[in-house]
Amino acid sequence: MRIAIASDHGGFYLKGDLALFLEEMGYSCHDLGPHNADAVDYPDYARKVATAVAEGLYHVGILVCGTGQGMAMTANKVKGIRAAVCQDTYSARMSREHNDANVLCLGARVVGPGLAADIVKTWLEAEFSGEQRHSRRVAMIQAPEGK
Ligand code: RB5
Repeated sequence: MRIAIASDHGGFYLKGDLALFLEEMGYSCHDLGPHNADAVDYPDYARKVATAVAEGLYHVGILVCGTGQGMAMTANKVKGIRAAVCQDTYSARMSREHNDANVLCLGARVVGPGLAADIVKTWLEAEFSGEQRHSRRVAMIQAPEGK
């Protein structure tokens, strides 16, 4: 599974921890920046990852900012993206099983590195259930985007 990861300054250090964790778990993880902790605008990085996932360059994306919220709001403007803010493992699993999320957003000021790693692992190991009612609802999410 190919994974794109990015952050803003608020998520920079957690991004580094998670990139290492992903490599250790055997995933192919591409860090799309930033590459230092200087202040940046999270929409630039959210759009980078979301666009690359929507174009099929990566299977999924992971975005880290202070809260995860601005990353998700931006990523969800990109056609085909279903970005979920998950600060617990239950939401992480459900966002995959029920909502077929393709981008995970985390808040480095909300969760510590240990919980963040558990959330990422849970999210990556969960799969969309494919049940008819969930497929129908996911199609309803995407409907305003058109074909
Ligand atoms: C940056 O201070 C902060 O606003 C950002 O990391 C994020 O929490 C936005 O949603």
